[in-house]
Amino acid sequence: MCGIVGYAGTVTACGKPLEVCLQGLGRLEYRGYDSAGVALAAPGMAKVAVRKKAGRLANLEEDVDRRPMPEATVGIGHTRWATNGEPNDVNAHPHVSEDGKIAIIHNGIIENAGVLRARLVEEGYTFASSTDTEVAAKLLGKMANVVIEQTGKPDLFEALRRVARMLNGAFTILAVDVRQPDIVVGARHDSPLVVGLGEGENFLGSDVASFVAYTKDAMEVGQDQAVCISGNRVAVTDFDGNEITDSKRFTVDWDASAAEKGGWDSFMEKEIHEDPTAVNDTLLGRFNQAGDIVLDEVRIEPDVFRSIDKIIVVACGTASYAGMVAKYAIEHWVRIPVEVELAHEFRYRDPILTPRTLVVAISQSGETMDTLMALRHAREQGSRVLAICNTQGSTIPRESDAVLYTHAGPEIAVASTKAFVAQIVAAYLLGLYLAQVKNTLFADEIHQIVAQLKAMPAKIQRVLDTQAGTVEATAKRLLDAHSFLFLGRHVGYPVAMEGALKLKEIAYTFTEGFAAGELKHGPIALVEAGEPVVVIVPSARGRDTLHNKVISGIEEVKARGAYTVAVAEEGDSDVGKYADVVFWRPECPTLLSPLVDVVPLQLLALDMARLKGYDVDKPRNLAKSVTVE
Ligand code: F6R
Repeated sequence: MCGIVGYAGTVTACGKPLEVCLQGLGRLEYRGYDSAGVALAAPGMAKVAVRKKAGRLANLEEDVDRRPMPEATVGIGHTRWATNGEPNDVNAHPHVSEDGKIAIIHNGIIENAGVLRARLVEEGYTFASSTDTEVAAKLLGKMANVVIEQTGKPDLFEALRRVARMLNGAFTILAVDVRQPDIVVGARHDSPLVVGLGEGENFLGSDVASFVAYTKDAMEVGQDQAVCISGNRVAVTDFDGNEITDSKRFTVDWDASAAEKGGWDSFMEKEIHEDPTAVNDTLLGRFNQAGDIVLDEVRIEPDVFRSIDKIIVVACGTASYAGMVAKYAIEHWVRIPVEVELAHEFRYRDPILTPRTLVVAISQSGETMDTLMALRHAREQGSRVLAICNTQGSTIPRESDAVLYTHAGPEIAVASTKAFVAQIVAAYLLGLYLAQVKNTLFADEIHQIVAQLKAMPAKIQRVLDTQAGTVEATAKRLLDAHSFLFLGRHVGYPVAMEGALKLKEIAYTFTEGFAAGELKHGPIALVEAGEPVVVIVPSARGRDTLHNKVISGIEEVKARGAYTVAVAEEGDSDVGKYADVVFWRPECPTLLSPLVDVVPLQLLALDMARLKGYDVDKPRNLAKSVTVE
């Protein structure tokens, strides 16, 4: 959702706060791009300097170029994904207190904003916008004055804690005050916030991307905690003011350049081409000399793993499809049931969980509110939760019993690509580790699968190298299609779902993904002349029946005039008879095939969106990290 950045430097006013805010917003823009704004404070200012603009960050940057902002000591910046009040200049953040001395930015939704607003209106406060954030700004302004009256001096940190105690809902708030132009204060509840630790300067951000260009030293801010940064100090307390001394520090494990396009036209294109590296890096360091799986970072004892008799994966969107792939592999290797549930459904059910159930929360961002709520729901009922996550310092791993990080590097494009393949690999590692501790596979079987997994990056690379041309030609051929169907069976089913989702979200094409076996139970009625039908064809080796059944499915839709696109294994001599076009994958074990099969589908969505002239990295109505329910 929204992206937040804050900077506190030395007491000498300069251009750095603005530079850091704009830089940080550039890196956070993937979190929201409806509007952007900054607020600056420096000694001697009567009111905070605020500039905000609807639309992309570029609009704000142009405005700041045209009408330079004053030098400052502290600054806050915000990129908005509107949840409350339409995207326009007025509703854009920052919002200011009645006297203009304080500016705040906010990520989340304040649920009791209506009640608070009504009380403030009764007291004579006026509102320019329809946002919940302005309510918090006015309230903070009022509270800051109350604190001054009570203590005789300004204390924005204390005022913010008092306001935080009055708010319901989800929020991260950052604030600056011209009366204390050396600090930025923040508070968080159910919304992300991390600290960047610099030399003579400190940073706050929704995620580390906002400050990684300046420092890789970072610190988590826990749930219901408030933080105050100055150039040379970071203080963390709970909302009652009790000091927190055990905040976890970590080092960001990627470079600022990883969050840049590096010559590619879009982040999505770059990230698809990083699929092989994401798989490789997620495998790195997870095996000992003997080839056994070592998951030291997962803080769950082997005995506990041995006792696990059921897994429930909770996730949303693409991450849930990674979970579906995991189900096929883990059930086959470990012989325990694996359920995959959309986090927002799980959360409102009464699931049957025991201490022997392992709940696996899969999330690229580590901030998806639905998944976070699902994991809390599971933990409240005594289940252990293991997070598969790509983002250090994020909330989901912090609230889980254990975490298995994917090492896909920062994923900036809104549509998830490299994180998907990395999530699948992490889930395979979990499955193989369970098979190892539960002895459901022999060591040599595990070693063989591991060797096959290690060969996957090269196979993905081969798809990228050999299939891109065919995919682009297909995208051109199908550009005017109104809808697509995607079919798959077994592990091809979640791949079909994922291919369909990619096309929906960035090419705005209506797609339906479903299990190929369902064709005759309804969806075949949709097939008419020219309808593109994309089919994931299982290998002809080993699982003949499944292969033949899927081939018959292609035959059936072809007979009704469909334009058929198959993803099939090199050397499959049956598929060419019925498919109009084939995206070939190298030979690989069926359970691992999603890692290669999804690649041409990611490229297809990218090419369709690009050819239609859409912004592939920032599709309409979507934000990268969905931090509201
Ligand atoms: C689709 C996409 C979304 C996310 C979903 C979960 O391309 O990116 O469907 O997969 O919103 O996000 P995370 O993995 O951050 O929890």
